[in-house]
Amino acid sequence: MTEQLLDLVESIARDAGRTARTYQRSLGAEVAGTKSSPTDVVTAADTAVEEQIRAAVAQVRPGDAIVGEEGDDAAGTSGLRWVVDPIDGTVNYLYGRSAYAVSIAVEDDAGALVAVVHAPVSGETWTARRGAGAWLDGQPVRPTDADDLASALVATGFGYRAERRARQAAVAAAVLPRVRDIRRAGAASLDLCDVACGRVDGYFEQGLQPWDLAAGRLVVTEAGGVVTGLGGRGPGEAMVVAAGAALHGPLERLLSDLDADRLT
Ligand code: IPD
Repeated sequence: MTEQLLDLVESIARDAGRTARTYQRSLGAEVAGTKSSPTDVVTAADTAVEEQIRAAVAQVRPGDAIVGEEGDDAAGTSGLRWVVDPIDGTVNYLYGRSAYAVSIAVEDDAGALVAVVHAPVSGETWTARRGAGAWLDGQPVRPTDADDLASALVATGFGYRAERRARQAAVAAAVLPRVRDIRRAGAASLDLCDVACGRVDGYFEQGLQPWDLAAGRLVVTEAGGVVTGLGGRGPGEAMVVAAGAALHGPLERLLSDLDADRLT
């Protein structure tokens, strides 16, 4: 059953990716509005792509609930819930950069069942099914075996609100001398997929919303990685720490020592 569901999610994500690319190439990606701060933008494409995904779900699985970054929550009756970021990496998208993705997870009461992160420009697609594995373009993926923080490549991201960014910058400044280097790609779902397939050793970020996290989280855990918050808490808005099994402990301890989930 989850195989069919994953096929459906992948096909909806690919269609959505085609629409996003068309807007970016020919229609332009202009700012249509702002959300939590003047830098937290929404383009016409974010809205159009999410509407396309919602319409596709409503047509084939009308009983499913939907939570999306750009629209109101839609209640369901089936017990399944789609968690959708139509364009994760909106600022990259706006600037014609390639690091953006359609990110979709379908959850039941126990968490994500299937996940797809599709990067329309590269065409790369990460998929995962709970209990079955995680794949990049059909090939199984796994995180690195890195266990030494000092030689780890660590990704992070920054939220849109100035106060939060000041805190995030202070944490990043403290992490930087202790690791190989830091990357800021600009799309949380792709950062998580990079952990899953060993393109970075670890990733952390404060302030992620469910649609930034849901699909990438399943990809990492099904690839054999670990995704948590700090101090034994689960991942969420306060903090997300993702890494291969050997590096996760050292990275989590460093971030805990820095109180990296504190707001100010
Ligand atoms: C953002 C991106 C970014 C992360 C922000 C997210 P959006 O999502 O994933 O990398 O640092 O926290 O809000 O707004 O582009 O969908």
